[in-house]
Amino acid sequence: MREIIEKLKLNKDVSDNELASLIDDNYDTELLFQAARSVREEIYGKKIYIRGLIEVSNYCKNDCFYCGIRKSNLTVNRFRLTKEEILSCCKTGYSLGFRTFVMQGGEDMHFTDDIICDILREVKSDYPDCAVTLSLGEKSYESYKAYFDAGADRYLLRHETANNSHYQKLHPSAMSLENRKECLYNLREIGYQVGSGFMVGSPYQTTENIIEDIRFLQDFNPHMVGIGPYMTHSQTPFANHPNGSVDKTLKLLAIIRLMFPKVLLPATTALGTALQEGREKGILAGANVIMPNLSPKDTRKLYEIYENKLYTGDEAAEALHNLKNSMKKIGYEIVVDRGDHNSKTPMK
Ligand code: 5AD
Repeated sequence: MREIIEKLKLNKDVSDNELASLIDDNYDTELLFQAARSVREEIYGKKIYIRGLIEVSNYCKNDCFYCGIRKSNLTVNRFRLTKEEILSCCKTGYSLGFRTFVMQGGEDMHFTDDIICDILREVKSDYPDCAVTLSLGEKSYESYKAYFDAGADRYLLRHETANNSHYQKLHPSAMSLENRKECLYNLREIGYQVGSGFMVGSPYQTTENIIEDIRFLQDFNPHMVGIGPYMTHSQTPFANHPNGSVDKTLKLLAIIRLMFPKVLLPATTALGTALQEGREKGILAGANVIMPNLSPKDTRKLYEIYENKLYTGDEAAEALHNLKNSMKKIGYEIVVDRGDHNSKTPMK
């Protein structure tokens, strides 16, 4: 195994069989994590970037089988934030040192392009030194272009799975992998920094599927890769499927760091939910981004894409303070920085 890890570190690639061993075999994963940390530290030092997550709406026209806020879940209390509420989240976030705001939401038809552009222009004019990331699902080329022209810098859209038939098992027939990929290529062409990714342990996922995900990422070469364990939600058709494995998620974070040394790799909320100190373990496996929640406390609970989502009940300030301490304990430092993919991060 040591040889495969060395090879992956050196060549940024190994064969499918070797990938399968890294993903599935039992071995001392500390070797893998150590390699991932050394690659990450060469580029990013001990710096951890933070993104302020603002959950803008849990209305969604889609019906993804794994997601708690799917439209068929009639037990959800739906909310959407007003422009003023979003701006107030940014204000809090800015004063705490956030320089990236991520506006994430379901595919809520109330948020027309005009409304989204209006919000973007206001956020960018109030905080010109901040990056704005959108995560609002599948839209037309024209819509993505309008958001970009209104100031959006980055877009997160996980591909979810790069295998067609697996994609169909996770989504209603109105959705397709083809369209998902087209959205990703459109975003890239328009000029966004793009994030893609997938869930680890989603229902029916095989190791071959994960390898296809990795091959797709090599082909698309996104700026950011979001991966976290699948987490069950009782009000979905997948209520009886078990959670994804934390260990496998950590292995994949490390593998992705070794294959894409410069990639922005978040230790996700799902990882922090699946395991206490999951985000710290993610950092120690090669992740370099954390996305703390800046949403208003009362709506945070309602944005339940999976159950028992990590929620400390703390104010944003308190949560950030605790996060800084927990990162310091493991030798890392949260920085105030837009944290662009291409930024020349000074080495320590
Ligand atoms: N468990 C883990 N992640 C989920 N997502 C959606 N539902 C779940 C779930 N039940 C992820 C999807 C989506 C992102 C916003 O959250 O990958 O792209």
